[in-house]
This record gives sequence, structure tokens and C-alpha cells, in this order.
Amino acid sequence: MQQGLIVLEGIDACGKTTQAALLAGKIKAAGHEVVLTREPFLDLPVLGSVIAGAGIIRDHHAHGDTLDSLKKYKLAPETDAFLFAADRSEHVSKVIKPVLAEGKIVVTDRYYPSSIAYQSTFDGLDAEWIRSMNRFAPEPDLVVFLKVSLEEASLRRNGSRRLERFEKGGKEECIQSAYEELAKAPNWVTIDADGSVDDVAQRVWDAVEAGLKTL
Ligand code: TMP
Repeated sequence: MQQGLIVLEGIDACGKTTQAALLAGKIKAAGHEVVLTREPFLDLPVLGSVIAGAGIIRDHHAHGDTLDSLKKYKLAPETDAFLFAADRSEHVSKVIKPVLAEGKIVVTDRYYPSSIAYQSTFDGLDAEWIRSMNRFAPEPDLVVFLKVSLEEASLRRNGSRRLERFEKGGKEECIQSAYEELAKAPNWVTIDADGSVDDVAQRVWDAVEAGLKTL
């Protein structure tokens, strides 16, 4: 590891938010200074304001919209990708670069690979185009891909193994495939994310610990 930028990625309900927090705790316990962060980075009204103007912002304030509900505005696919990249540029300049410059470790729950996996799958955008618009974002030392089975993800989200949103051939499976492709890169590690929280946390730690020694 050279700079200390660690990313957790995976489909929704893969457990990465829990695992990111546990990992940050273990890194701290091992004697390193660490900052836990996430994407999307900005509050939604701010994110919306990047492109949308007053109408959408008022609406978000009024109804407390979630990220998912941005879909109702039927943003152009490219706009979606620009929005996430704009959000990321704030994240990189306000948190990631300053924290790394202080010699601390950054653990982020999602980063630019989410844009490639989600926007190329949901919006059919060219993965290379998304990658190139995100070149400003420093390359992570390590991306931990939490590969959960679609059945387990469904169970965690809906309390049932019945595949609905996570069905075979559905979008979640396509996003998972996009991650599998990305995970061929040398700075990625794939972790089996089925099983207990503690078991998965141990697998993540095993993947990260050795790299920390080289910092
Ligand atoms: P999360 O809070 O569960 O991680 O959800 C964030 C949602 O935003 C998730 O469905 C993935 C999506 N997303 C993208 O589509 N592109 C991106 O670049 C990022 C960071 C998130």
C-alpha cells in the first residue's frame, strides 16, 4: 500500500457499510489513524443543485427525497454520471486528498467503481467514458469487492430469499457482473460476503492487514 486509500464496493445489501465501519475500527486498533467516509458524499439537496436548479431543490427539501427518487426526474443518463462525478470531486478535494496528505488512511464506502458498475449497467453508458471522466480521483491502493450471493442480498433486504429485485438476470446480477469484471484489476480483492458479519469482517481484515504493514 502506498497512500492508504481503501474502498469497499458491492451491490446493494452486500453489507459494505457495516464492513467499512468494522474495518475502520480494526485499522484504528492496529495503531493507524483512519477516516471512514462514503459516497454519495454530499447531502442530496446539494447534489441536486449541481445540475437541477430551484425546482428539484425545493422538491427535495419538501419531501425529503432519497437518492432513488431522483429517478422520477428522469435525468439523462449522462447527467446521472456527471452528478456522481461532481459529488466525487467534492469528496476527493474536501476529504480524500487532505486526509491522505496528513498520512492517514481513508476507508470509503463506495467510490468511482460504483459509477462504472451502476451507470454502465442502469444507464447503458460506456464504462471507459465513465472511467475517463473520473480520472481526477486518485486510484485506490485496494478495492475490496464484497461479493454477496443474490439470495443472501435479497434476504438481507427483504427478509426473504425470494429473488425479486435481486432476481437472476435482473439489474443486481448485471451490476454484480460489472464488479466481477472490474475485480480482475490487480488492486482489487474479492471477498465472499455471505456468512456472519464477524466472519466477513475477518476475511476483509485478512485481505487488508498485510498491505497496511507497507505504509
Ligand atoms: P448506498 O447508500 O446503499 O451505498 O446507495 C447508494 C446508491 O447510489 C446505490 O444504489 C448505488 C448508487 N450509486 C451510483 O449509482 N453511482 C455512484 O457513483 C455511487 C457512488 C452510488
